[in-house]
Amino acid sequence: MKKVTVVGAGKYGSMTALRVAEYDLVDSVVMTDIVDGLPQGLALDMNQSRYVENFSSKIIGTNDYEDTADSDVVVITAGLPRKPGMTRMDLLEVNANIVSDVTKNILNYSKSPIIIVVTNPLDQMTTLVSQVSGLPKNKVIGQAGVLDSSRFAYFISEKLNVNMNEIEALTLGSHGETMVPVPSQCRVAGKPLNELLSNDEISELVQKTSDGGAEIVGLLKTGSAYFAPSSAAATMVKSIVSDSNEVMPACSWVDGEFGINDVFLGVPTKLGSNGVTEVVEIDLEESELNALKGASEAVKAKVEELNSILSQ
Ligand code: APR
Repeated sequence: MKKVTVVGAGKYGSMTALRVAEYDLVDSVVMTDIVDGLPQGLALDMNQSRYVENFSSKIIGTNDYEDTADSDVVVITAGLPRKPGMTRMDLLEVNANIVSDVTKNILNYSKSPIIIVVTNPLDQMTTLVSQVSGLPKNKVIGQAGVLDSSRFAYFISEKLNVNMNEIEALTLGSHGETMVPVPSQCRVAGKPLNELLSNDEISELVQKTSDGGAEIVGLLKTGSAYFAPSSAAATMVKSIVSDSNEVMPACSWVDGEFGINDVFLGVPTKLGSNGVTEVVEIDLEESELNALKGASEAVKAKVEELNSILSQ
């Protein structure tokens, strides 16, 4: 049976841990945090829901990395969330220190886990985990595209007043200003989105998707979104622990696909028990491909920024 660890028992981490446990696919879900008592208290509360919700996966709350030993999958959520007006980049330095520390601690007890990164700024933190861990590239993945696609789908469903299960939506690129929604791959009840909405209307939904996280941060005033984000992270864990090889947009190492090289970027990714099984090259319109290439350049520039901060 499998073991999943979630680092950071804040809003995003605790909700992810609960969702994974409720799938009932693993033996245990370990939640760890630097705050004494927080993961333990939350784990106790979650375990006391197992009788009603009828799942067997045990939730273990701890401040000790020894309890994370031999994890198959680790989700890193530790870090600070955005405050109103902050961009994900403002979080760079503080979260880089947290994430690199967490990665070293995890690797002390788990030899070759698959690591899913959710801490922002996402693309840079995913790169950092890869650098610090030295794990094979297929074992480090960032969560962004499932969430952004789900937000896009929500805005499409509201605009057209259709059920969510009739919508196929896709976003690629970075988790940030250079997110690349892909209208050519979006369908509503099998019909292409651009037959149902004008270009201007699609652009409006694209903008709302891009601003989706910031809109929630602005309303909440403290903290950032976690219900939809945790669904996204948990579904990635599910595809890995059940080896279902589902294709979903994820921040994966791109090595020649789409004519792009050497960067962690949001691309369609097949996820199975070994992590990334394949980066799936789908057909994109020229403008979408150019936007994806633009996003890769933007992420590379931000990674340089990260590296210069780390070398100071
Ligand atoms: N090790 C373990 N846990 C840590 C560490 C660390 N070094 N540093 C901070 N944490 C914990 C905090 O104690 C807190 O419980 O990370 C948790 C973060 O939780 P929240 O503040 O509730 O933030 P959350 O909404 O969960 O977001 C976490 O995900 O979406 C991103 O931008 C968001 O980077 C942020 C991350």
